[in-house]
Amino acid sequence: MNWPNHGGQPEKLKQLFNIKMDRELLDFSANLNPLGPPSWLKATLDEHYEKITRYPDPSYSKSILSIADHEGVEQDNVLLTNGGAEAIFLVAKYFENKKAVIVHPTFSEYERACKHYDIDVEDIFYEQENSFNLPTSVIKEKIKENDVIFLCRPNNPTGTVIAEEDLQLYLEEGKKTETYIVVDEAFVDFLPTSIPSLSTWLASYPNLILLRSLTKLYTIPGLRIGYILAQPTIINVLKNEQIPWSVNSLVDAVIPKLLEDGSFLENTRAWLSEQSESVHGILAELDFYISPTQVNFYLLRDKKHPKRTEELFYFLLEHGILTRHTHNFKGLNGEFLRIAIRAKEENERLIAVLQNWRNES
Ligand SMILES: Cc1ncc(COP(=O)(O)O)c(C=O)c1O
Repeated sequence: MNWPNHGGQPEKLKQLFNIKMDRELLDFSANLNPLGPPSWLKATLDEHYEKITRYPDPSYSKSILSIADHEGVEQDNVLLTNGGAEAIFLVAKYFENKKAVIVHPTFSEYERACKHYDIDVEDIFYEQENSFNLPTSVIKEKIKENDVIFLCRPNNPTGTVIAEEDLQLYLEEGKKTETYIVVDEAFVDFLPTSIPSLSTWLASYPNLILLRSLTKLYTIPGLRIGYILAQPTIINVLKNEQIPWSVNSLVDAVIPKLLEDGSFLENTRAWLSEQSESVHGILAELDFYISPTQVNFYLLRDKKHPKRTEELFYFLLEHGILTRHTHNFKGLNGEFLRIAIRAKEENERLIAVLQNWRNES
């Protein structure tokens, strides 16, 4: 089976599985915010329409200033990128021909980017049987032997968050051997306010590189907005590697307004806290395993039938629900489904179908 590499491709999946269905599939496979894009965004893009007739400001000065203010860092700590994906590939380029560790299961693009730049990658694994905790003693050892460790916090696909004390330990160890810790924070805005971004740590840890994306929070995968936060020396090297005008003028125009929209973020956190509590509670009662997630997606497996995940995937699909298979997440081998938290009525639809599965299985 030629499973697609990423979520959010309902039409492709319909074709692949030859599903004849007039109504649209409910897409729980992409982990985007159902509240987005913000209601004002369309009008603002229209307002800036004439900007497409000019090249963007190559220094993206207004956007960089707003990102630096938003993150509490200096402007020379920031590099604007064409989505989180470009951020990943630029950082991989920085470590070309070196040695890296990737902790799986995680986002597959770290591995692809490392391969692209001939990085010698060692795979290690979260402890699945131990709530997907990090194997801290193993990582400590690996830090000594490698140039960079790629971590995702919160992690895609588990939704778990590496504890601050563990990260501090890795960064301190890394300082001794000049090993860099790259932390992808693409989903950080979905965390409760009690777990902030690591951006304020940049001042204390020269070996910390943060990757960010605005894609998931604002539901704008088609716009492409991301950034890197790191020491100015690293930012300068990466800037030289970046293709000219990598970020377009419309994106450059809307970034300050996106970052200022505090009420959108508040509403998102309120929706997520309410919906995730309710969904997780009901699914646990129905005897499904849910990874200890803190964000807008989770891994699910039927505790009663842990070997029947693929069957469950098809059952959901036949009932109009698309989930994310986990065949290309190393260490999961398709044994779980990744499912997003969506709007209330959609979550209720998912739960009703899972209830049917439980009654029939
Ligand atoms: C962990 C993680 N980082 C980065 C990205 C890429 O983000 P963007 O769409 O902004 O390129 C994704 C997309 O799924 C992701 O899951």
